[in-house]
Amino acid sequence: MGLGGLTPQSGRSRDRHLQWSAVAEFDPARIDLPDELLGPRVRLRPYREDDAQQLWEAIEESREHLGAWLPWVKDYGDRSDANITVRRLQARWLQREDLVTGIFDQASDRLLGGSGLHRMDWQIRRFEIGYWVRKSAEGHGYVSEAVQVLTRFAFTQLEANRVLIRMDPANTRSRAIPERLEFVYEGRLRNEMPDVEGRPTDIDVFALIPADFKRLSWAGLS
Ligand SMILES: CC(C)(COP(=O)(O)OP(=O)(O)OC[C@H]1O[C@@H](n2cnc3c(N)ncnc32)[C@H](O)[C@@H]1OP(=O)(O)O)[C@@H](O)C(=O)NCCC(=O)NCCS
Repeated sequence: MGLGGLTPQSGRSRDRHLQWSAVAEFDPARIDLPDELLGPRVRLRPYREDDAQQLWEAIEESREHLGAWLPWVKDYGDRSDANITVRRLQARWLQREDLVTGIFDQASDRLLGGSGLHRMDWQIRRFEIGYWVRKSAEGHGYVSEAVQVLTRFAFTQLEANRVLIRMDPANTRSRAIPERLEFVYEGRLRNEMPDVEGRPTDIDVFALIPADFKRLSWAGLS
């Protein structure tokens, strides 16, 4: 997939003002995205309206396990909140503002969890991967597989220059994912984010740039 319009406008003018205007012309809505991304076992795709029931059930069974780390879990008061969330996420997907996907079991179409490319900067092509898995699907490697699929997609299709994963250092299961996948540990940002109680907490940052990605044993596999 070509990303016409993302290329720096160096040939047009060295004038700073003109360079910024040229960047502002780029519209992320021009980027074509596939309907789904496949790993060996998982299917990643944006949510559809008829996923709302599964999303609600996945959150209901996982409140304790997710709520310790993800502040949005408490916003799901009843089933209608899942409907509204799906609509909002669909709109953000269409605008290329936030590429949230469900993680589905390919064989059964069961919703296993969620992931996606977030907080992107389309100009420098930086993407952040986030993830969660429902309690009953934890410990099977589904999230590691989803992260591999999204990372490969970002570097090979979206021309990523940087893919990062961040977490509270105390979230050992989350930290294990970039470690397992050989992301580069870049360091700890102190008092960087509020935790779920609103207290400042440190954040560990793991990332890959294209040269790191090419060296990974799993980069070319699917
Ligand atoms: C963080 C979180 C997503 C990790 O989930 P997970 O199930 O441990 O991660 P994976 O799906 O990659 O599974 C890895 C586990 O499956 C095992 N596994 C089994 N088959 C596997 C396979 N084919 N490939 C990789 N791992 C496999 C691994 O050995 C590992 O088990 P272990 O933890 O006992 O060593 C999950 O704990 C979660 O949803 N937490 C709450 C939300 C959260 O914190 N999100 C992140 C915020 S930064």
